[in-house]
Amino acid sequence: MRKPMIAGNWKLFKTIEESVALLDELKPLVKDIKNVEIVVAPVFTSLSRVSDAVENSNISIAAQDCYWEEEGAFTGEVAPKLLINAGCSHVIIGHSERRQYFGETDSTVNKKVRAAINAGLVAIVCVGELLSERESNRTFQVIETQIIGALSGFNADDLKHIVIAYEPVWAIGTGKTASTEQAQEVHLYIRELIAKKFNPETSGAVRILYGGSVKPDNVKNLMEQPDIDGALVGGASLKAESFAAIAAFNV
Ligand code: PGA
Repeated sequence: MRKPMIAGNWKLFKTIEESVALLDELKPLVKDIKNVEIVVAPVFTSLSRVSDAVENSNISIAAQDCYWEEEGAFTGEVAPKLLINAGCSHVIIGHSERRQYFGETDSTVNKKVRAAINAGLVAIVCVGELLSERESNRTFQVIETQIIGALSGFNADDLKHIVIAYEPVWAIGTGKTASTEQAQEVHLYIRELIAKKFNPETSGAVRILYGGSVKPDNVKNLMEQPDIDGALVGGASLKAESFAAIAAFNV
């Protein structure tokens, strides 16, 4: 009942032309993939052109961040409404790179998610522990703090517009994937947390993606886990062939 989502996070890669070219390559490769929501997140400057490029395809567009105000004197920021105006349906919020390098906190994540879903976007909310936190047995505690912080003030209806992405920081861009058991264990923990905070129905419906060195050769095992509903893919989403192979995990 949870439709799998495969989302590509292009990070700070690709010009407008390169982004459109990648989508032109990707579209025919994924056009027959049914029952998987396919999303790509290019840089801000490409969003509008890329949205035109995916029209009438089964690919949706996400931004990689947003601000929580609708407008005002906020130099450098982009509002959720403007992302919709540029053709986005989704937005990634709280990616660990934003937490690590740009001062993102659970409180700013919370405000951004609220603004994003109020505007009509689906928010892909990222959580994940550092290696030091895992090694000191604090993974669950860290995840709980991040989830509770991100979802503070939300109700069960809001959760229909939220996708969680569990991305252990030590597995991002390192080639080290969490083992399927490590990933499943945290996904189940998140699902149980959502059942406690909201209700079992909401927890059964919310999609929880795994992220961190997802590749064509490990996606199948990950997707076989009962609580893994998709993937947030960085490096392997920058090539049409590998991203299409990931999106075709069940073909
Ligand atoms: P990766 O990145 O697939 O390159 O590890 C994942 C992410 O940062 O979302």
